[in-house]
Amino acid sequence: HVWETRVRQSCLPKKDEGLIVLVTGAAGFVGTHVSLALKKRGDGVLGIDNFNSYYEVSLKRARQALLEKQEIFIIEGDINNKELLKTLFDLIQFTHLMHLAAQAGVRYAMQNPGSYVHSNIAGLITLLEVCKDANPQPAIVWASSSSVYGLNSKVPFSENDRTDQPASLYAATKKAGEEIAHTYNHIYGLSITGLRFFTVYGPWGRPDMAYFSFTRDILKGKPITIYQGSNKQDLARDFTYIDDVVKGCVASLDTAGMSTGSGGKKKGPAPLRIFNLGNTSPVTVPNLVSILEKHLKVKAKKNVIKMPRNGDVPFTHANVSLAHAQLGYNPTTNLEIGLKRFVKWYLSYHGLERPVKSRRL
Ligand code: NAD
Ligand code: UGA
Repeated sequence: HVWETRVRQSCLPKKDEGLIVLVTGAAGFVGTHVSLALKKRGDGVLGIDNFNSYYEVSLKRARQALLEKQEIFIIEGDINNKELLKTLFDLIQFTHLMHLAAQAGVRYAMQNPGSYVHSNIAGLITLLEVCKDANPQPAIVWASSSSVYGLNSKVPFSENDRTDQPASLYAATKKAGEEIAHTYNHIYGLSITGLRFFTVYGPWGRPDMAYFSFTRDILKGKPITIYQGSNKQDLARDFTYIDDVVKGCVASLDTAGMSTGSGGKKKGPAPLRIFNLGNTSPVTVPNLVSILEKHLKVKAKKNVIKMPRNGDVPFTHANVSLAHAQLGYNPTTNLEIGLKRFVKWYLSYHGLERPVKSRRL
């Protein structure tokens, strides 16, 4: 029927040797960009997303419309729906799973802890269960997070650094995800790659993140709150531009080994891979705000709180030499240029491309 035809069309690679990828969280920020990049180079792409209301559903629908223009179909469903997933894997021989669906955000974990367990732990296990039973088994690439480094005070962060001090429940579920992935790699021979993204930003981004909400509030003349670290130290983030992250995701899919269907040393797959995908150049929150003020041509009203937010880590800074060596990962967009592109998109998306004084906000 119509649904099945759309699924098949969406999954059809347009080039020989094209991948066939199921992208979870495809209506999300990173999922949208990764789906578009894969489709553009000729891979078959099918999305799945539950369109939850953690942030504006209208933005997720707008991203969906963008994907539909490129003939990428998003199934509306939850990654905990095992029957739906099994139906999809029976219908299509996915070569890869790009798993980006999750409950993101650090602070919301204090309001709604259950949604992190549902999506980041139970959802991941459901997907891995379906992948281990699939024939062929897909290679899996999924999003972990820089937050797993937690209260680690050694910078820059390298993949083997300690990750046993998460500062938030979000971080704890991402860390748990890495350990769950390890067991599926070990027992069932699944090829799995975890990517620790570092505060990703860009066009079509997430309204709950600081650079996005600051832009909205600065334009509206509303005060923004800047959290500073203890001891007058500014908090810093290794803000990473979406296009750089997308390149790292695509390279991870391309270099992922085959799932072998058997664990153990002799016949097993390549071991679990974990990579940092950061920018290697942390910027403080006040500096982020200055760059936004410059691009928006509006001064921010600032409310400074000399304490980190509960659950925040003080700083993040990626060492990406492993991703560079194995994926050819090489972030090239600095925050100044990346935010310029974000602001251009933001103004266009909200119909605000006119002189500052005549903008209706
Ligand atoms: P996002 O919230 O924009 O995208 C996630 C998408 O997954 C959303 O569209 C949501 O509707 C969907 N989703 C959530 N739970 C689901 C479920 N149970 N079933 C089906 N769909 C579900 O977030 P993003 O910024 O695109 O993040 C993508 C991934 O990268 C997430 O795993 C996130 O934790 C991780 N990550 C993001 C950042 C960042 O800075 N953006 C940094 C580190 C890690
Ligand atoms: C981001 C994402 O939201 C997480 O989903 C992701 O896992 C994480 O990156 C990651 O890299 O792993 P975070 O870096 O906390 O988390 O991003 P924001 O919420 O945008 O905060 C960035 C910085 O701005 C933090 O230092 C925060 O304290 C600060 N901030 C945030 C403010 O000063 N004021 C605010 O109103 C909000």
